[in-house]
Amino acid sequence: MSTRRDFLRRGKEALPVGVASLFLATGVNTASAEVETVGNLLGQLPKNIVYSKSNEGIWKGKSGSHVPTVSLQGGEGRIVTTHGMSPKHYIVRHTLLSDEGEVLFGHTFACDDDKAASEFDGSKVKSGKVYYALSFCNKHDLWLAEVRV
Ligand SMILES: [Fe+2]
Repeated sequence: MSTRRDFLRRGKEALPVGVASLFLATGVNTASAEVETVGNLLGQLPKNIVYSKSNEGIWKGKSGSHVPTVSLQGGEGRIVTTHGMSPKHYIVRHTLLSDEGEVLFGHTFACDDDKAASEFDGSKVKSGKVYYALSFCNKHDLWLAEVRV
C-alpha cells in the first residue's frame, strides 16, 4: 500500500529542473509560493486523491479557498487556508512536510476555530529547500501546495 510519504518521495524525483523559477519571494526572511509543479506530482496518482491549484479535480473552482499558503517572517512560519470555519464545513488540519516526507509540523483545528491559520517554528525550514503544505477540508478533501524557501 502506498503512503503519503511514498507519494512525496516519488514526486520529488519528478520535479522539473526549473522549479526554482516558480518561486515567489516577497522579501528577506519572507517567502511564500504556490508552485504549479504540484500538478506533476499529482499526475503520478489516480485522479481525485490530492488536489492543488492546477489540479482541482472534482472540486472545480475550490482551489482559492483550499490551497494553503506558507509564509516566513521574523523566524516564525505561518500556514493559512482562506476557508471559512463552521461546524458543518471547516479546515481540519494543516501539515508541513520536508521534501523527504518528514512531518515538520501539524495542527488540527476545531470546527469553532476562528480561522484556518497555524504557526510553526520557522527555524525548521532551510533556505533553498522544497516543502509541502497540506490542508484538509472536511468536505472538499486534501489540498497540496509546494513551497520553496
Ligand atoms: Fe471546503
